[in-house]
Amino acid sequence: LTQLRGDQVICVSNREPLIHDRGADGGVLVKRPASGLVTAVEPVMQACSGTWIAHGSGSADRDMVDADDRVVVPGGQQDYWLRRIWLTEEEEKGYYYGFANEGLWPLCHVAHVRPVFRRSDWEAYKAVNQRFADAVVAEARSEDPIVLVQDYHLALVPAMVREKLPQATILTFWHIPWPNPESFGICPWRRELLRGMLGSTILGFHTRFHCRNFLETVDRYLEARIEHEHSIISVGRKETYVESYPISIAWPDETESAAWPAVAASREAVRARLGLPEDARIAVGVDRFDYTKGIIERINAVERLLEKHPEHLGRLAFVQVASPTRSELDEYHGFQDRVKALVARVNARFGREGWQPVHLLAEHHDHAQLIELYRAADACVVTSLHDGMNLVCKEFVAARDDERGVLVLSRFAGAARELHEALIVNPYDVEETADALHRAVTMSEPEQRERMASLRTNVAEFNVFRWAGRMLVDAGRWRLRARVEARLR
Ligand code: F6P
Repeated sequence: LTQLRGDQVICVSNREPLIHDRGADGGVLVKRPASGLVTAVEPVMQACSGTWIAHGSGSADRDMVDADDRVVVPGGQQDYWLRRIWLTEEEEKGYYYGFANEGLWPLCHVAHVRPVFRRSDWEAYKAVNQRFADAVVAEARSEDPIVLVQDYHLALVPAMVREKLPQATILTFWHIPWPNPESFGICPWRRELLRGMLGSTILGFHTRFHCRNFLETVDRYLEARIEHEHSIISVGRKETYVESYPISIAWPDETESAAWPAVAASREAVRARLGLPEDARIAVGVDRFDYTKGIIERINAVERLLEKHPEHLGRLAFVQVASPTRSELDEYHGFQDRVKALVARVNARFGREGWQPVHLLAEHHDHAQLIELYRAADACVVTSLHDGMNLVCKEFVAARDDERGVLVLSRFAGAARELHEALIVNPYDVEETADALHRAVTMSEPEQRERMASLRTNVAEFNVFRWAGRMLVDAGRWRLRARVEARLR
């Protein structure tokens, strides 16, 4: 890290770290979006005080935000710069909703939703990637900045930046899974995407499994030399190092956790708000309202649990927070309607006077509200059908300084490779998930404590600074090597 001291760090992502909304009184409210990317990247930007380039996507109305395109965002330790790119409606439709979220998102997640590829979306994707790359070049204060490219929205940016700044150190992190070569191969622009990504110095994925899939994909579709042993891809003289960097959260410090409400007070507040009885058990799910998150499978499991264990009737409440997301897309709209209908059916079947088993809260929740919910919960249920990492489970663990609460976790989330003390389930197996839910809400306190203490040690140690630190240390090595080679040439 010392090798990078004084170097300029530029981060580039689609999602910006702020949402601007109108309050009831017409005033502007500033909130944080429900995004694993923002959760992870913001503490890093605060720590290195860099420049973050993003689409001004968090503001329905441009008038609500600072008129300046480049603003200072006050941070925990240090401030950082936010430089917004404003996309037209048409650009956003083709690049973000179209190619990124109707094409790449279902292509990379095994959730059995068919990707849609339109040439017009691809053209918009290319043009918008060029706009982001141009902004990086415009922000660069030297020939060799450190550029952090985030996620599947910007696959072409690394090669575009490399063209203008050949000496830049470009670290690209792919926040979602990488599929096998057969699956990826259905994309008509597979080669262009791979070439774009290979403009990176380092290409990071959450797990080794995703790295292997990527190496095999390149092997299948490009003329490239692949050193599997060292995880290096060479195309001509250009090398890219491919490595796994499991993402995480910023572990809360004592000042932060001291401000949290007590666990008993959190339970009381949630019970009062949802009208739950004194002895209610609470299980929670917290997700963007997305079809990859396994929300239908989870509610099916709650239903099965109530069939198998009627002793939970009138006592167990399952609270699902579902933050609005990508609702403009038919696939999302249809999915969200299906979830609402399922919740209504389960509540009609098992609800009774003054009690309903499922509470669907389909609205934005801020960090303080989520902390209260996590602390009130007997169990947190993460049943993603496929997920790069999933940070909700790590946030739940971080919130439980009382060492209680049980995590039920999908084996198809990257986090399952680290959080072994969770109850690991296959969300497609309704019986297994229902049994795990039962086990979670009836688990003895000593067992909860033992599992949670171990989970907490793991997440505290492998926090987001470890994620960023490992990548930056590797970047430092590659940067030094490139500089030495350039001198010797
Ligand atoms: O982590 C994957 C991801 O798609 C991020 O790229 C993104 O910020 C987050 O989920 C939320 O999605 P969106 O930015 O489309 O609201």
